[in-house]
Amino acid sequence: MGLHYGFHINRFLTETTGSILGMVGARQTIAIQKQYLKDSKHKIPLLFMTDVIHGYRTIFPSPLGLACSWSPELIEQTAAVAAKEASVSGVHLTFSPMADLVRDCRWGRVVESTGEDPYLNSLYASAFVRGYQGDDVSAPYKIASCVKHFAGYGAAESGKDYNTTDISEYQLRNFYFPAFKAAIDSGCKMVMPGFNALNGIPCTANPWLIQDILREEWKFTDPVITDCTATYELTAHGLCASNKEAAQAAINTGMDIEMVSTTFFEEGENLAAEGKVSMQTIDAAVERILRLKDELGLFENPYKDADPVAEEKIHLCKEHRALARESAAKSVVLLKNEHHVLPLHKNEKIALIGPYADNKNLLDIWKCQGKEEECVTLLEGLRDRIQVFYAEGCALEENPAISYEEVHTVDRDTSCDAACLNSYDAAVSDCDKIILALGEPASWSGEAGSRAHITLPKKQLELLKRLSASGKPVITVIFSGRPLELSEAAAASTALLQAWLPGTEGGNGIADVLTGTSLPEGRLTISFPRTVGQLPLYYNALPTGRPKKSDSITERFSSGYIDELNSPLYPFGYGLTYTTFQYSGIRLSDKVIKEGGTIEAAITLTNTGTFPGTETVQLYLRDLAGAYSRPVKMLKGFQKVFLSPGESRTVDFTISAEMLQYDIPGHGMTLEPGDFQLFIGVDSTTANLAEFTLVKTRES
Ligand code: GLC
Repeated sequence: MGLHYGFHINRFLTETTGSILGMVGARQTIAIQKQYLKDSKHKIPLLFMTDVIHGYRTIFPSPLGLACSWSPELIEQTAAVAAKEASVSGVHLTFSPMADLVRDCRWGRVVESTGEDPYLNSLYASAFVRGYQGDDVSAPYKIASCVKHFAGYGAAESGKDYNTTDISEYQLRNFYFPAFKAAIDSGCKMVMPGFNALNGIPCTANPWLIQDILREEWKFTDPVITDCTATYELTAHGLCASNKEAAQAAINTGMDIEMVSTTFFEEGENLAAEGKVSMQTIDAAVERILRLKDELGLFENPYKDADPVAEEKIHLCKEHRALARESAAKSVVLLKNEHHVLPLHKNEKIALIGPYADNKNLLDIWKCQGKEEECVTLLEGLRDRIQVFYAEGCALEENPAISYEEVHTVDRDTSCDAACLNSYDAAVSDCDKIILALGEPASWSGEAGSRAHITLPKKQLELLKRLSASGKPVITVIFSGRPLELSEAAAASTALLQAWLPGTEGGNGIADVLTGTSLPEGRLTISFPRTVGQLPLYYNALPTGRPKKSDSITERFSSGYIDELNSPLYPFGYGLTYTTFQYSGIRLSDKVIKEGGTIEAAITLTNTGTFPGTETVQLYLRDLAGAYSRPVKMLKGFQKVFLSPGESRTVDFTISAEMLQYDIPGHGMTLEPGDFQLFIGVDSTTANLAEFTLVKTRES
């Protein structure tokens, strides 16, 4: 079955194509479906599929930003809105959730991921699926989902997109697989393998991955679709010598739908005639696709929810904009707030400066039907609420399409600086505080958007340092799809916020946080490096045989650098609020947990500041000894707790023996008796720990 960018139905399409990629719009999809069913012999409805990644017309923050809300409920809501807007535009299935675990922010597609943790990625993948599909994909405003890119695509060596991945089965099973398994356990209707060669064999033609794991072990019975032209790429990978061999390898591995490339159509009949692909294999693929179309109700109603009137009414409605605004506020991570320079006060005069101050480029490359012109800029979000003076100055806007050489030329070109810097001087001298909106263009992340230098453009950094030298507090807001190197920016800023690519209501959501209308509650789901040289960098790493005793560069002959600290600039789970919280020590209901049993762990949390705030209390576990070396910490739970100033509350977690299991290659999920550490704290660096022992009650 082919999936094509079909715009005009003709004989070729009616005989070769069963689904359409990227064609959306109620009128268009209705017209194409009608023509197709009229012309085709088999009268099997087309499946309309597209990339609804974080919104359809109302665009939410990029997934890496949404993930920082630590709210699967919010993600489920945004997915449900996305499904509603997409379904009335004739979409039947989205190529989402993207469940790739990422530890290297050079990789451009980190923007589409939810970060470096398998537990959190699993919660989010399930939430996306539930939001898109509900309990029944044939229900109104629901669409089917396709989890991608199975598997390990985010581990592309050197952060280069499409590059080789070499991942042990231990790492795959305990880090890269869980979010895919969670999506499938939540009922996800399709799987898309990654472009990457995994341990020498491209995922598109990797029988171990698709047959042994996906079909046999996980019992996944729905369709598998190749990524765009991935079948052609089997030749480039050097796995196949021709498109015919590529079609044979992909079909026999278990690819049911070929996306865009046409080898199945061109070679399928001959392969079957030559017995290189069995009719049983083809029948099984066709059956899976027909079943999906049936589950969507397309045989009863090939147009499902496509409705031009509903489109008009539902797209960008105020409820959807309100959710986008809430999402943007909850995605912002407050990284620094010296002297409580935030939140802003009404009577303060603010100079708003920088290339993202009044910039509508707040959408990443997977913006679906979102339109920049419909975005709310930071200036528009602030204008009616505080005395903000926008210093127009030279925008320092880099042309995202320019080449590497030009980027550095632009950076070196300081000619315009003098003029535009002087134009800021007036604004700066007359203001109480400066908000400086900086970042990287959306096109510098996303697919094929890998960067070797993850820095802010030099001219932006120069502007920041110049404004910092004015002596006025500088509140720097970073708009970027990926974590950037922010050490210098942090040092020169009084306050620093990571705003990601915040979507249609980005300006309002960020303004809500800056003015205190919304209280910052974002927490990082990916480590921010001090330097790109630390990558890949992640909190849940193995201890090594020579762990450092402290975070220093002087301790030789332990695992680290002689010229940089091991620690990230900002760790997984990190984020500030406008208040402060105090954690008590951990209280355990028992020091021993029995197989199949539970123990309770509790702390007392107190808001010791002057603002209300939401703390994301995080629970980490560490297995001190096992058949495999185990990570120094693994996130196993969290609770978001809102407290007023001075309020205290007990926060407790139930620790189950099941949480202590891990997947041992060849043995499956395994529970190993022994000593464990349990951490409850503010982020992945917490030292607030207690110890307990797991005992097995019966010989397995
Ligand atoms: C792209 C991406 C994939 C997307 C597909 C269809 O190349 O890798 O994530 O779903 O093509 O647009």
